[in-house]
Amino acid sequence: MNVMDAIMTRRNVKLFKPDPVAREKVLEWLQAAAYAPNHRMTEPWEILWIGPETRAQIPHKNNFGGAPVLLAVLSTPGSTPVDRDEHYAAVSCFLQNFMLAAHAEGVGTGWSSAGLSEKVRELLGVEPGTEVVGLIPVGYPEVTPAPKDRAPITAKLKELP
Ligand SMILES: Cc1cc2nc3c(=O)[nH]c(=O)nc-3n(C[C@H](O)[C@H](O)[C@H](O)COP(=O)(O)O)c2cc1C
Repeated sequence: MNVMDAIMTRRNVKLFKPDPVAREKVLEWLQAAAYAPNHRMTEPWEILWIGPETRAQIPHKNNFGGAPVLLAVLSTPGSTPVDRDEHYAAVSCFLQNFMLAAHAEGVGTGWSSAGLSEKVRELLGVEPGTEVVGLIPVGYPEVTPAPKDRAPITAKLKELP
């Protein structure tokens, strides 16, 4: 799959097959994701591979669609607000890389904001200042959602003199 196809066909998957995804493949996609741009090579991502005991305590309406793998992707603290924003931006790039790499091999991902809650932060043992950018279920899609149209990009484009 070429990059354009991967970008255009990735979907936010909400229902997964129970079939396992090889751990080595997930690690391979995470390693590839680390080639994301990051200012001053801070590599500000951290990943929690969430096991069943911890997962059972996370409140979520459908247990992350039954995905066989659940990751939390964190952004490390910055020493200034600018650093913090740069870290968060780099981790977002990391996440998109990861999702595209998985998708290119037929594996779906979702993105949940459930990690923003204080309760979930505590369950995951996240230190103050570290951001939970996303909880990411990973698995073979049971249902692939229909694409959602985007506005023409020209509607978002402003020409400056
Ligand atoms: C920062 C962020 C947080 C998100 N949180 C959620 C969420 O809590 N629950 C959810 O169903 N989708 C969440 N999403 C996924 C979006 O809903 C999804 O990407 C959007 O509907 C577009 O669908 P697509 O990714 O399939 O094109 C999140 C996406 C981002 C970037």
